[in-house]
Amino acid sequence: MGIDFGTDSSSLADFGSDGAPHVLPNALGQIRTASAINVFLDRLTLGPGFDQTRFPANGDGRHGDGRPGDDHDGVPVPMSGFKRPYQGSGGTYQRGRRVMTVDGIPVSPKLLGAALLRGLVAETATGRPADAPVVMTVPHAFTRTPREAVCDAGRSAGLNVTETLSETTSAALAWLWKDTAVDGQPVGRTRHALVYDLGAGTFDAAIVRTRCNELRVIAAEGDPTLGGRDWTETLAEDVAEQFRNKCGHNPFTRWRMQRRLLGECERAKLMLSKQRVCTVPIVTPRRTEGIEVTRDRFEGLTEDLLRRTRDLTEFLLENAGIEPQDLDVILPVGGAAAMPAVRRMLKELFGTRATPDHAARKAFPDPRTAVAEGAAVYAAMLRASPGAGDYGLSNDVPPRVRRRLRAISLEEVSAHSVGVEIEDPNVPGRRLNHVLLPRGARLPTAVQMTFGTTVADAEGIRLRLVEGERPEAADCDRLGEYRITGLPPGLPARSPITVDISLDERNAPHVSAHRVMTPEEQRISAGAHDLAPLKTEPLTPSPGSREELEATQRLARLMPHPR
Ligand SMILES: Nc1ncnc2c1ncn2[C@@H]1O[C@H](COP(=O)(O)OP(=O)(O)OP(=O)(O)O)[C@@H](O)[C@H]1O
Ligand SMILES: [Mg+2]
Repeated sequence: MGIDFGTDSSSLADFGSDGAPHVLPNALGQIRTASAINVFLDRLTLGPGFDQTRFPANGDGRHGDGRPGDDHDGVPVPMSGFKRPYQGSGGTYQRGRRVMTVDGIPVSPKLLGAALLRGLVAETATGRPADAPVVMTVPHAFTRTPREAVCDAGRSAGLNVTETLSETTSAALAWLWKDTAVDGQPVGRTRHALVYDLGAGTFDAAIVRTRCNELRVIAAEGDPTLGGRDWTETLAEDVAEQFRNKCGHNPFTRWRMQRRLLGECERAKLMLSKQRVCTVPIVTPRRTEGIEVTRDRFEGLTEDLLRRTRDLTEFLLENAGIEPQDLDVILPVGGAAAMPAVRRMLKELFGTRATPDHAARKAFPDPRTAVAEGAAVYAAMLRASPGAGDYGLSNDVPPRVRRRLRAISLEEVSAHSVGVEIEDPNVPGRRLNHVLLPRGARLPTAVQMTFGTTVADAEGIRLRLVEGERPEAADCDRLGEYRITGLPPGLPARSPITVDISLDERNAPHVSAHRVMTPEEQRISAGAHDLAPLKTEPLTPSPGSREELEATQRLARLMPHPR
């Protein structure tokens, strides 16, 4: 199963015995499910989403059972913002506790994600084996910490999450799979495709090269703080200002009114993709007003947001050494890529390539579900591999499809530089990021580095890997801490220890260490090995707080409830 865990909405897909990925619709028959949950007493229900939520104008802020609550209680907990707060924060929520509380208990995004996933799976994947391998997608720009957090959320929800895959890679894989399946023969010619993925919370773009069953990501860029929500918020700011100017008072200081305004502006934004003018209703306890917005005004207000996606796309092309005319296919992905301004911009940049003919478009996956479909194909590739054992594909999958699943090779690039934390030789106490593996490297990638022990008779050394481009280690994300032990007693200071650091195909770090033997030791060991393997163990992060544990238990007790 593949899961596209989106900021605003999520999608699940499974690989069918007909050799194609299929989206699993939710209880309402929708192919995307709002990433929002309702928690009431011990029940958990999905949605409604950001755009469907209508709040009473004079909500009294009470729980459904009459208990007094704060402003937030009784309305759905939106997952929008779930992905963003992970960035650089090590998984803690930064935007205040209002949205991230369940029945008054502050919970981490990971826990809420787990609750949401439990609801999603209960509703959409009914009848699927619970322990089947699951691939979850993440924005390319995610560092290890949020990638792990997404996996952990899945595992806390009882899913057997085996891998994460970048959303853009996933969409490209869905295209490759579908495209080749159209005429039954892999396309032998080398082709370049651009994936432009504008979701609700994140923007990602990638250039991939394909030939037959090979899919190689050449370069990828992303901005995890840019998405369709920013277009909605910009529109909401403008509408609020127009309302204040017209009516002379500001009702948007209350959280509930802000959410209401955002909900209305979200609906207006969707309408402006189809029509040129629409009216945003503002209902306050004092008066009801309609604020008119036009597509031209909306596009003017959000010009700089679109510009950011354009700059990043152009930067990506430049980095990859690809000219716009070298691209064969433009794959728009994500709900916000449906905006007319985005389509126009892509046409400006790539001409007719951005407006494929009907035949070519037949090979394109649905922009709304491409990510989930690609993840389902990838999960099937894992299940088709010879080592899959019990989790292998069902016998109904034809041998031709199995062969193709095994034949596909997928190559990604690293999203961030990987460095080791070192002491600044000039400023005592200052820790620097010494980059070992640069970003954008073809995966897998490895490097070997020799360190010296700092003191005589050292018992071991500690190695802290960081992820990021900033020179100060503290400004980067921590990738992992490793303890290297097993050094023989009596080693002099500055004895060389060689460390192998690698990133595997899916961006996961691996570390192993060896001690360089002295010529005397080599003579004794008959010169067979000049490296003595050392014990390398990752230091596990400390367990969560008591509050977190309490919230976990509480969320685990919530029963997914049918809608
Ligand atoms: N027709 C449309 N016109 C304009 N915007 C749209 C349209 N349809 C969807 N959107 C916007 O697309 C976004 C949702 O897209 P999508 O479901 O792909 O995001 P997501 O996967 O939840 O987010 P992310 O991938 O960033 O985590 C929302 O901001 C929504 O307003
Ligand atoms: Mg998405």
